[in-house]
Amino acid sequence: MIIDVSDIAALKEFSIKLANNLPSKCIITLEGNLGVGKTAFSQFFLKALGVKSHVISPSYMIVNEYYTDQYIVHADFYRLNCEDNLDLLGWDIMLEKADIIVVEWPKSLVKADIQIKMVLGEKRTLELITDYKLNL
Ligand SMILES: Nc1ncnc2c1ncn2[C@@H]1O[C@H](COP(=O)(O)OP(=O)(O)OP(=O)(O)O)[C@@H](O)[C@H]1O
Ligand SMILES: [Mg+2]
Repeated sequence: MIIDVSDIAALKEFSIKLANNLPSKCIITLEGNLGVGKTAFSQFFLKALGVKSHVISPSYMIVNEYYTDQYIVHADFYRLNCEDNLDLLGWDIMLEKADIIVVEWPKSLVKADIQIKMVLGEKRTLELITDYKLNL
C-alpha cells in the first residue's frame, strides 16, 4: 500500500491510524534516506501509543525505551556496524520483552512485521508492507 504523506499533517494522521490498528506485539521497521521522516513518524506514532515523555531521536543512543502500559523500544541502527553490537544492547531481551519495537535504519538486522519504506521524491510517500490486515 502506498500512502501520500506530502505534509507533516498527513504523516501524523497515518501514524495515529497505524498506532490504533496494531497487533498486540509487533516490530515496525522504517527505511528511507537521511531526513526522510523516520523520526518524525516515530514521534507521532509513540505519542499516539500513549508515550507521555518527549520522544527523542535514537540516532546517538541507538536504543530508547519507553514505558506506558506497554514496553516500547525505539531504535536507530544507522551507527551500528555489526551484528555483534546488538548483544551489547541486550537486543535479544528487548525482542522478547517489548510489546512494540520501532527501528529506523534496520539494515538487515531486524525481521519486521510491518515494514515502512519512506521516499522523498517529487512528493513524500511511504510504502507499507505487511501480512497483517490493517484497517487504515
Ligand atoms: N511528511 C513530512 N512533511 C514535511 N516535513 C517532514 C515530513 N516528514 C519529516 N519532515 C521533516 O523532515 C525533517 C527530517 O525528518 P526526520 O528527522 O524525521 O528524518 P529521519 O528519516 O529520521 O532522518 P535520519 O535518517 O537522519 O534519522 C524534520 O524536520 C521533519 O519535521
Ligand atoms: Mg531519525
